[in-house]
Amino acid sequence: MNHPAMQGLNLNTPGYVRNARLIAWVADMAALCKPDNVYWCDGSDAEYQRLCQQLVDAGTFKKLSEAKRPNSFLASSDPSDVARVEDRTYICSADKENAGPTNNWMAPADMRSTLQPLFDGCMKGRTMYVVPFSMGPLGSHIAHIGIELTDSAYVAVNQKIMTRMGKAVFDVLGVDGAFVPCVHTVGAPLAEGQKDVSWPCNKTKYIVHYPETREIWSYGSGYGGNALLGKKCFALRIASNMGRDQGWLAEHMLILGVTNPQGKKYHVAAAFPSACGKTNFSMLVPPSGFDGWKVTTIGDDIAWIKPHADGRMYAINPEAGYFGVAPGTNFHTNPNCMASLDKNVIFTNVALTDDGDVWWEGMEKDGGSLPTHLIDWQGKDWTPQIAKETGAKAAHPNARFTVAAVNNPALDPEWDNPDGVAIDAFIFGGRRSTTVPLVTEARSWMEGVYMAATMGSETTAAAVGQMGVVRRDPFAMLPFCGYNMSDYFQHWLDMEHKVESLGHTLPKIFCVNWFRKDETGKFVWPGYGENMRVLKWMIDRLDNQAKGRETIFGVAPQYAEINWTGLDFSAQQFNTVTSIDKAAWTEELKLHAELFKQLEHHLPKELGETKAAIERRLAA
Ligand code: OXD
Ligand code: MN
Repeated sequence: MNHPAMQGLNLNTPGYVRNARLIAWVADMAALCKPDNVYWCDGSDAEYQRLCQQLVDAGTFKKLSEAKRPNSFLASSDPSDVARVEDRTYICSADKENAGPTNNWMAPADMRSTLQPLFDGCMKGRTMYVVPFSMGPLGSHIAHIGIELTDSAYVAVNQKIMTRMGKAVFDVLGVDGAFVPCVHTVGAPLAEGQKDVSWPCNKTKYIVHYPETREIWSYGSGYGGNALLGKKCFALRIASNMGRDQGWLAEHMLILGVTNPQGKKYHVAAAFPSACGKTNFSMLVPPSGFDGWKVTTIGDDIAWIKPHADGRMYAINPEAGYFGVAPGTNFHTNPNCMASLDKNVIFTNVALTDDGDVWWEGMEKDGGSLPTHLIDWQGKDWTPQIAKETGAKAAHPNARFTVAAVNNPALDPEWDNPDGVAIDAFIFGGRRSTTVPLVTEARSWMEGVYMAATMGSETTAAAVGQMGVVRRDPFAMLPFCGYNMSDYFQHWLDMEHKVESLGHTLPKIFCVNWFRKDETGKFVWPGYGENMRVLKWMIDRLDNQAKGRETIFGVAPQYAEINWTGLDFSAQQFNTVTSIDKAAWTEELKLHAELFKQLEHHLPKELGETKAAIERRLAA
């Protein structure tokens, strides 16, 4: 295929690609970005190995010890390119109000003229990889196709793990199927003869979404959600727009299955902000006292949820792998994850051991001691002494692993079911050291939407910015909702009527907080596998087996309703994590009011009414 502007560059379009819109778009993008080559990924294992070797040769990857971590690699990014850049992320809807006050916005025409000179020639000296992928099982009626054009082989191999990537996508696409065009460049063209660096990127970064035309343009970063465009950009920001228009939900939620000793299975979808233990919760190992209970993973980060004709809400995990935070992961916090990471993994920004393995903070809890020497994520020597003197971290706090879902020993047999799984309960949880109790259940769909809308969380290293400050993070979607947040609340409220008109009861909604601290600043709730105790109480509520007690903020468990077998947790400790402090809640409600003021355009009136009801209960 030749484009007038291609000046002889061969697009190398494989014969099995027959989608005219796709071919024309690749030609246009090649003419703009001016790569030296165009390479269409077929998604084969041989291609993966070849690209990984190429990354080793380029110094981007280090091959880890075949004995310690078979077929695994370590990448170290540029120190300036380590997390999502929310302040450089834009929703360029035609109308500013549609992006809403929580998103950066620029008029589409202005953004296009800003990006045009940046993308012009941005891939010079590099290969443009054409990466075809399906978010969701190939051909599923819930799935959607994307094509990512990228000049990063690192992105291509990560996409092979994170999505259903490869040539079978073109069969689903056919001659006229729809796809989301995603263009990505590290923004580091190479002049003739210029030597490349191991992690090319650009100080200037733009992560841009055009919701009306369903396009994604990403410039300047090679890291995670900035560059693997199927994840946050497509599966959340663009898909939330699709969901609003088509009557479904794209959510920042894990999906798990939980099976009781009698074999009855429930499905739960849970939203937590970034780096708040979603992967851990989705792979939970039930503690002692829960013989015969099983938790299985459907997804660890994103859920696409559609109401079906039978009146239930069905969810799929659009991803095929996990891009999880490594630090803190160990055999206590997440044994299934540690088992998933024993082979076929790409690690980014963790430390390298002297015997060719990986290490990160938190692993010492397994081995009992710190390693005597490491190469840290920036390639410098690290010893416990250096760490003590300088505070240097061996792994970056947002260091990641990329691993296929099929590596997970707790993978749910239904994880790949094109119809998804029927959701019984939603959980919303922030990271709060005070105020929000361990668990409460919403008394109505409306109260659940309120709980989710007003979620707050202390910020983490997943995004660039100040850590540990409380910010409102409605539905854990603050950085990911691709349209006006208040319209998104309305969309959730509308689900109630949609599902009820189909003649089914809605999933129950719960609010949790694993992170309450005592006066000495220590976490009180043990978390991790012990969260099963809370999950079991939720299931008892679904089955009408636990009475609970009313609070100002939903129904809470009574101490005696939790199975405490195998855990020493006193009624007094329970009170510390479940108590409702009236003064703190008075302050909290002021913050809810601030949020509602910020979101007042299109804010559903039901939220204000629910707040007034909480205030009345608080005053009573
Ligand atoms: C993630 C995030 O990577 O939420 O999942 O930042
Ligand atoms: Mn996430």
